Amino acid sequence: MTQTDLIIIGAGPGGYRAAEYAAKQGLKVVIFEGAEVGGTCLNVGCIPTKTYVHSASFAEARERLGQVVPQLRQGVEGILSNPNITLIRGKAQFVDAQTVGSVGGDSVTAKNIIIATGSETKMIPVQGLDDPRLVDSTGLLSLETLPNRLCIIGAGVIGMEFASAFQRFGSEVTVIEFLKECLPALDSDIAKRLRKTLEKKGITFKMKTAVQNLSAIDADIILMATGRKPRTKGLNLEALGVTLAPNGAISVDENYQIEDCKSSNSKCYAIGDVNGKQMLAHAAEMQAIRAVNHILGKTDNIRFDIMPAAIFTIPEAACVGASEDMLKEQGVPYECRKAFYRANGKALAMNESEGLLKLFSEPDSGKILGCHVFGAHSADLAQEASVLMCLGATIEQLRDMVHIHPTLSELLFAAAET
Ligand code: NAI
Repeated sequence: MTQTDLIIIGAGPGGYRAAEYAAKQGLKVVIFEGAEVGGTCLNVGCIPTKTYVHSASFAEARERLGQVVPQLRQGVEGILSNPNITLIRGKAQFVDAQTVGSVGGDSVTAKNIIIATGSETKMIPVQGLDDPRLVDSTGLLSLETLPNRLCIIGAGVIGMEFASAFQRFGSEVTVIEFLKECLPALDSDIAKRLRKTLEKKGITFKMKTAVQNLSAIDADIILMATGRKPRTKGLNLEALGVTLAPNGAISVDENYQIEDCKSSNSKCYAIGDVNGKQMLAHAAEMQAIRAVNHILGKTDNIRFDIMPAAIFTIPEAACVGASEDMLKEQGVPYECRKAFYRANGKALAMNESEGLLKLFSEPDSGKILGCHVFGAHSADLAQEASVLMCLGATIEQLRDMVHIHPTLSELLFAAAET
């Protein structure tokens, strides 16, 4: 049996980042991967969808996918070729609290283990789940012909991104959503504007509608996009004594150490989608750093409470921190400042006049509490707001910061000036 410093299960953004960082710090790492390296994000998630969003036609998207994904996968394989890292290709399962083996292969023992197995599509309990037209996001990405009529169940992040891309390719797209507005985590004002913009482009939205039977849906392909669930099947977590939370997640503390394992001799962590905390690739990467730091006895100042996110529709939407809905609900006093793309020189020059930025701050201190925005390159604007929030910046300080003219980032500056 092999002995190592750290075992990692899963080579997605959480797992490979943990391996890379731990190896650089001198730890010997064994990482198990049952499929291609890169995880959902690289193979069937963020990267393929962004390739679709940035391709003019379905045929071009298919072709570019065949180039972009293998190239990035090679990059991850390069990272994992570090002499301190051993990649074992095979599905891993726990033998005991310190031992992991690949099914039918060798076992490895370590005092530190990180589970980074990601998530999978959560199917809702409706009638007709055996409908051959039904696909999840992975299935949709593997279609070889463009569907004439695509029905998407769920106006969340996955639903909205695919709706946007496939409408542009020429599919007739209908989105069915249970709630009254799309993208529940986004400021509802911003979400509504985004939905209206996509409606004008030709996407049909059926809001406040619960799907009961798939056979009643008139479409060539039906995409299930009603959320994802942590992937733990086959890991034999019983050997670790882990009890899953009701949503199927592994419960962890602020260092991503598994709550149920704290009293054992080994240190076990769960990072990324499998802990159900913040299902985002960049969250997984930062959780990897925190977990490895904890193993090494190091502290860091990563602000997990300031988590920027983007929805890559056309145009995109993005956010960091509180939304107006959230502030109202929590009874937090706030000021809201707005800036419109139509009043920004760069946006007009780019022919991207559709868009709105909302900036929230504390009334007395002026401290920035959040920024929600929709419009071209809005992810970059949310990123700037995120940096300001990490530094505890105020509206006053933002007003004193020079912004390049003409840029979209002047939208943040303009909001501060109102
Ligand atoms: P989601 O949780 O974002 O949205 C699911 C939507 O489905 C919700 O609006 C919900 O109300 C709706 N829904 C649930 N049951 C329904 C029903 N029976 N009928 C109609 N609508 C129903 O989940 P999604 O879009 O599947 O994404 C999964 C995860 O992946 C999320 O955590 C998301 O953040 C992450 N992701 C992030 C991306 C990004 O950061 N750009 C891209 C893609 C996914």
